[in-house]
Amino acid sequence: TNHDEQHTPSLGALFQPFAAAGLSLANRIVMAPMTRGFSPNGIPGDDVVAYYRRHAENGVGLIVTEGTLIQHPSASASPNWPHFYGEESLNGWKKVAEAVHEAGGKIIPQLWHVGTTRKVGSLPNPEALPVGPSGLDDSGNQVNEPLTESEIADLISAYAQAATDAKAAGFDGIELHGAHGYLIDQFFWAQTNRRTDQYGGDFVSRTRFAAEVIKASRKAVGPDFPIVLRFSQWKGGHYDAKLVTTPEQLEQFLAPLTDAGVDIFHASTRQYWVPEFEQSHLNLAGWTKKLTGKPAITVGSVALENDFANHPSRIGRLADILEQGEADLVAIGRSLLANPEWVSHVRSNHTKDWTSYDSSILANLN
Ligand code: FNR
Repeated sequence: TNHDEQHTPSLGALFQPFAAAGLSLANRIVMAPMTRGFSPNGIPGDDVVAYYRRHAENGVGLIVTEGTLIQHPSASASPNWPHFYGEESLNGWKKVAEAVHEAGGKIIPQLWHVGTTRKVGSLPNPEALPVGPSGLDDSGNQVNEPLTESEIADLISAYAQAATDAKAAGFDGIELHGAHGYLIDQFFWAQTNRRTDQYGGDFVSRTRFAAEVIKASRKAVGPDFPIVLRFSQWKGGHYDAKLVTTPEQLEQFLAPLTDAGVDIFHASTRQYWVPEFEQSHLNLAGWTKKLTGKPAITVGSVALENDFANHPSRIGRLADILEQGEADLVAIGRSLLANPEWVSHVRSNHTKDWTSYDSSILANLN
């Protein structure tokens, strides 16, 4: 054992293959979903195809695409975010899936509706009002009427249609974006869901919309097509938001989602090494896996900057999480954009010349 290795705990567990829940992956490294805004009029073009191909060639086990919008007038808040509907957009996505497969990778689209985070009068459809369970934005402003039950039924159908289209386009599964304060999460969260019908109530009742989206998607794709659900406690701008505050509540919250047909949970946290509850060192992904028995993806500030050299204890924690089976997969966001060769760098224990993430990186599709 040389000096360096003593200070850089082995991440060999990252390079074990994964086979469960209908997914076979070459390793445990997932490209986190990241909105990029390079799809004019909602259509992902050849540069987007090349971007995902490059990340597959660079060896990530699974790519979760940037959030891509279901078909609904107020799903989006930018004309440059990709649609997951319409012939041209779906043809673009089909090329993305083919390119990733040619490069030996796997890919799932992240299906998204922004809820009331969309600003009134904003592009791409200034005339479409934002929608959310109670028509409230995350600051409590009433921006629209609450969704009606028939509008909710239409939204559920739109997710299921996108799931059907993902399978037809050759993807390896889907991820439902149920995190960060967007539409599905707005049903989960008491602050944005004040409904008194079957879609509102306590934190268990507030899972109903997501559960119906999952069930409808499952019905659309059949039993062998993986459905990943991304969820979070934190919301954009509300880092200390909580859906649940104890493991018992988390178990009750996740049960209807598991029963509805989730195959893998993607537990979004900002720092993977932070315990979720006082009872143990487990993070949100660790608790989720323990309480549901389903595979889990962990995420949050993995190997930013010179983390590998400067924070051996954090990296040791990451190694432990995988080796102890607390989580199965690790998603990497910003560090992967800053270091497109992340996978081979880590595999060869090459922790020098690490590029720091800076948001200026987002100006190019790298
Ligand atoms: C994100 N993130 C994100 N999450 C998500 O579920 N859907 C999305 O479309 C996006 N978009 C997005 C864009 C950009 C530029 C960034 C940096 C992040 C969050 C992302 O998936 C991840 O959870 C966080 O970035 C934390 O991981 P890292 O970056 O600390 O490894």
